[in-house]
Amino acid sequence: MDYPKELAAAVQHVSRSYPLEGFIAGQGPLHPKLMLVGEAPGKTEVENHIPFSGQAGKELLNYLSKAGLTRENVYITSAVRSRPYRVVQRINKRTKQQEIVYPNRTPTKAEVLAHAPILDYEIKQVQPQLIATLGNIGLQRLLGKEYTVTKNHGQLYTGPVLQLTEQKDAYEWSEKNYRILPLFHPAAIFYNRSLVPVIHQDWQVLASLLQQD
Ligand code: URA
Repeated sequence: MDYPKELAAAVQHVSRSYPLEGFIAGQGPLHPKLMLVGEAPGKTEVENHIPFSGQAGKELLNYLSKAGLTRENVYITSAVRSRPYRVVQRINKRTKQQEIVYPNRTPTKAEVLAHAPILDYEIKQVQPQLIATLGNIGLQRLLGKEYTVTKNHGQLYTGPVLQLTEQKDAYEWSEKNYRILPLFHPAAIFYNRSLVPVIHQDWQVLASLLQQD
């Protein structure tokens, strides 16, 4: 999506002092059946500017195709549009030389807040029939800390979502109601294989919700 220049510039200005790299726009059609809200881009996404194009993205495409969807008919975005990284000094095992590496990390609350105007804008423009959050960051950005993926995955929520206040320093509930389906982040199975059947069930819930529409 092409964001208004002032919007993208303001968000990048507010986040200028945070350890964030790149700026990757959300992608997909307006008024889709489904909008996906992830966490933040990783290294692969910074390189090719395609959301969910890394390892987690491959998993995601499998789930999408089982639900009869493709990347092209879904709007894909995240709570944060830049890659959050850590700075790690270590000894390279092979060369035995000291080196600095910049692995991905989870975005902070301040980073999610700084990028909130973009997600608010996307939701208003895209007007999806259903929003599925992928992982806790996207879920809590929209529904607050009371919601967790472990507790709420696969259960449809219908109601207001959190959006940035005029002062841009806190969230408030939207007047409009949305349909939100909390899902696990596709990368979750890399750390916990026992989630595979749970994730499949949740995606079946998603597929049947889309069929009802
Ligand atoms: N994880 C996300 O949440 N978003 C991406 O674009 C890639 C990985």
